[in-house]
Amino acid sequence: MSNEKRLAGEAAIRYVEDGGIVGVGTGSTVAFFIDALADLKDRIQGAVSSSEQSTAQLKRLGIPVLELNATGPLSIYVDGADECDPYKRLIKGGGAALTREKIIAAASAKFVCIIDSSKRVELLGKFPLPIEVIPMARSLVGREIVKRGGNPVWRDGVVTDNGNWVIDVHGWQIADPVTLEKDLNQIPGIVTVGLFAQRAADVVLIGDREM
Ligand code: A5P
Repeated sequence: MSNEKRLAGEAAIRYVEDGGIVGVGTGSTVAFFIDALADLKDRIQGAVSSSEQSTAQLKRLGIPVLELNATGPLSIYVDGADECDPYKRLIKGGGAALTREKIIAAASAKFVCIIDSSKRVELLGKFPLPIEVIPMARSLVGREIVKRGGNPVWRDGVVTDNGNWVIDVHGWQIADPVTLEKDLNQIPGIVTVGLFAQRAADVVLIGDREM
């Protein structure tokens, strides 16, 4: 699988425009993309990063890290996923970076998702759905999830880059991810739902081939 991750990370380079600013996700697949991006660092203005982890790698490789508030809209965002359905709708947040990832995806004209073949599913939900919550809302959100038939598990010990907590929801088979994403977004205390369905990926690369 790590060979497919590397191929996907390298294949995403073809979507990077000369002189542009690249949105950069988080995870082991993105790490291959950042390595490849370093080879063209003189041809881009820089990157907007979705996590402290990616920021550290970008800086180490000499790629300027820019603030989204300063850049305005981006032409491209490259990120991995934990699951991807046939409509390019995703579960993300296995690395707890979902909030910044969703912000950058929303600010980008094209979302290029890079995965290995193990991430491709017919129905989302086998991978537990990550939800970032304000800490004081953890039990309230948990009860709301139980009402909806899910089994919430607190990712104990994990604090996000935004100082929040993560709940992983087990046991959902997500046939209508757009409706579930909208519904969960109404629960007070939820910061971000790890469903990328309203704003799905535009391009999915499985290894070096487009889905
Ligand atoms: C980070 O929060 C996630 O959304 C990642 O995109 C996801 O976990 C993919 O990670 P890998 O590329 O390491 O599989």
